[in-house]
Amino acid sequence: MTDDLLRFRPEFPILERTTYMISNSLGAMPRGVSDSVQEYCDTWATRGVRAWEEKWWMMAREVGDSIGAIMNAPAGSVSLQLNVTSCQAVIASCFDFSGRRKKVVYSDMNFPSVMYFWEAQRSRGARVQMVPTDDGIHVPTERLLDASDEETLLVPISHVVFRSSYINDAKAIIEKAHRVGAHVVLDTFQSLGNVPVDVQELNVDFTVGGVLKWLCGGPGTSYLYVRPDLGRKLEPKLTGWFAHENPFAFETGEIRYGDAPFRFMQGTSNVPGFYTAMPGLKIIREAGVQRIREKSKKMTARLIELADQRGWKVNAPRDPEQHGGTVAINMPNSKEVCAELLRQDVLVDWRPNAGVRFSPHFYNTMEEIDLAIHAVDEILKNMGVAAAAR
Ligand SMILES: Cc1ncc(COP(=O)(O)O)c(C=O)c1O
Repeated sequence: MTDDLLRFRPEFPILERTTYMISNSLGAMPRGVSDSVQEYCDTWATRGVRAWEEKWWMMAREVGDSIGAIMNAPAGSVSLQLNVTSCQAVIASCFDFSGRRKKVVYSDMNFPSVMYFWEAQRSRGARVQMVPTDDGIHVPTERLLDASDEETLLVPISHVVFRSSYINDAKAIIEKAHRVGAHVVLDTFQSLGNVPVDVQELNVDFTVGGVLKWLCGGPGTSYLYVRPDLGRKLEPKLTGWFAHENPFAFETGEIRYGDAPFRFMQGTSNVPGFYTAMPGLKIIREAGVQRIREKSKKMTARLIELADQRGWKVNAPRDPEQHGGTVAINMPNSKEVCAELLRQDVLVDWRPNAGVRFSPHFYNTMEEIDLAIHAVDEILKNMGVAAAAR
């Protein structure tokens, strides 16, 4: 059977030189980024300050809408931010922790930066409850649901867990949160572009993430979706002139909030990041996340099969429906194996309590999966690790 997604392979120059399986960390750069960045330079060089009104100001909305299209967000509901941590800060600034409803419920499988941010909100009055994992792969959904109660204000949770690629039951978490009057902040950094996300179907309050991993957009651009009814009434205290109803009036005194998406922005945005983001977003939209997901399931299943054959520990969910795009494998000497794989241009990474993380994307071939695992076999052989343990 032909793999139609491989027609995008020539768009990614690094695939000619490496076995690129690290899209959970940094997606491969699309060839088109060079032209796009050149266009940024040319615009700045030739149009100077006029670039703001001719292109750059509205580009924030344009790029936000292209990201929004991948998650079925209505036009104008996605603002651009610098990173996911600052997205949390914008959301936190829409609420206060002085009332009875001041609890923040999250899981210890969240990305650490998100944890550090919410833990730090204790000093601002938040009551923070971290729900622990037992197996290092997932937190039972029931446990998260039980933790959300009438005093819960916010539930910041990963859609796909960065450590194990477990897919949280976002729908159940959101429904429970809404029943008790809480809001969910869904971190789709490890899902959007690889696992389908539909913010309207989920009825999620906030969705955050960045473009540099599965969306192949490079560092510097993160997104914040705010459900339109909330977007009309929330007033972020982390704000600035971009959020003003009439920014160019340069009014003094208190802000008068404009509409989303600018309402959730603050000051001058990272324009070069918009240019690097656009080519990847276009490719992902053309490829289609549903098809990417189908292929991803085949690739992760193959990785698990090969690891099982060798008796290696797989730190990933076994149900394909609960598993995103990364397979963490803890073979013997996994840290050293990872270092050697990198030397051989098989690009993966290693994390404590997880092992070597393999993250193939739509541009990888099934042959590359087999080659990567074969490379591990050879490395272990050279290390003198017995075949049974290999
Ligand atoms: C699920 C998740 N959230 C957040 C981040 C990063 O957050 P930030 O954009 O603040 O660097 C990552 C990065 O690996 C991640 O995997």
